[in-house]
Amino acid sequence: MEAGAMRLAIVGIGNNASALVQGIAYYDGEWEGPLPGVSRTFLGGIKITDVEIVAAFDVSSNKIGKRVVDAIFCPPNNYPDLGVTSVHASPCVSPGIDAPDDQEQIRGVADVLKKQQADVLLYSLPTGLPAMARAYAEAAIAAGVAVVNCTPDPIAGVPELMARAQEENIPLVGDDLQSHFGSSVVHGALLALLKERGVTLVGSYQLNVGGNADFNNLRSMGQGKERSKHRALRQKISSTDSVTVVPSAGFVPYLADRKVGLMSVEGRGWANMPVKIDVQLQVQDSSNAAGVIIDLVRIAALARERGEGGFPVAATPLLKSPHLVEDAQAQVKHGQELLASLADDRDD
Ligand SMILES: NC(=O)c1ccc[n+]([C@@H]2O[C@H](COP(=O)([O-])OP(=O)(O)OC[C@H]3O[C@@H](n4cnc5c(N)ncnc54)[C@H](O)[C@@H]3O)[C@@H](O)[C@H]2O)c1
Repeated sequence: MEAGAMRLAIVGIGNNASALVQGIAYYDGEWEGPLPGVSRTFLGGIKITDVEIVAAFDVSSNKIGKRVVDAIFCPPNNYPDLGVTSVHASPCVSPGIDAPDDQEQIRGVADVLKKQQADVLLYSLPTGLPAMARAYAEAAIAAGVAVVNCTPDPIAGVPELMARAQEENIPLVGDDLQSHFGSSVVHGALLALLKERGVTLVGSYQLNVGGNADFNNLRSMGQGKERSKHRALRQKISSTDSVTVVPSAGFVPYLADRKVGLMSVEGRGWANMPVKIDVQLQVQDSSNAAGVIIDLVRIAALARERGEGGFPVAATPLLKSPHLVEDAQAQVKHGQELLASLADDRDD
């Protein structure tokens, strides 16, 4: 793939898009040593600043028609302004799909994707809109464009979409990403540690609060996210029956795009004696998403370029609900090996 050739379309110009677009610009220019907060500078030869935004869609009247670099600051977005000046090409936000059964709207999105020669469509809508997820996936498949779904609403998990994508050599990456350093990752590591040390799990909970639009939405639309978070934990332990997860335990406006995750784990050690761990995690919520999206879109572009349709297994370790092609823990291990082989040795 040529430098600057990874062409990304984004649907949903919310906080994730803001963190991604500003982050790409932030890493532009000369850096000495490893880039802060970056897992893989190169992935399959594609570097972060090779990712160019070529199309964007939203349905919010205060975002449509604005350049992406301006739309990312429209409310309710509240990811911080990083003050970056060198933002790569910034198209205007096109009207997206507001009626998922409207074939004309789906064709309209497909036409823009083709015209802009997008390689990948990032699906980043509020959680709880499965019909929308399907409509945008239909548009991407019609345009021959790979999809990365960073929400728990199924795309890769819809067997019929997956079968068509495999037939037409279109990668479908999903569903729902595991944040860079989020509650699922930290909670999963704690539970795995108990298991590894032979401590019996008695019970555990994970409560998350934040002040962005996603937290507000997840108060009422959190069921899909809750299932997805359980699936992420099951990549580490076989049963989550005694684990309670609350994706949005409260909307706290003053936190803006910051998130607080509280995790408590109780177990029993030798002679049934108690073990207890309480952890508080504080992170910038949408940086946490963008730090993983940047890898997922490069995995998708690479698979598309190689004509590998369907689910790219290298994405498995980065997802909460990966499309399963084999048993979950074996697939994660295989995915980790593939991902390591894709990371360019210039990372060292
Ligand atoms: N922040 C994280 O760490 C993280 C991690 C994993 C997954 N996610 C998921 O990513 C998704 C996006 O998160 P966000 O914080 O950017 O959300 P957000 O609410 O800030 O942004 C969503 C955007 O989608 C737009 N939109 C709504 N309906 C639309 C439609 N029909 N067509 C086009 N655009 C539409 C909204 O106007 C808004 O601009 C959520 O589902 C969230 O749960 C976030």
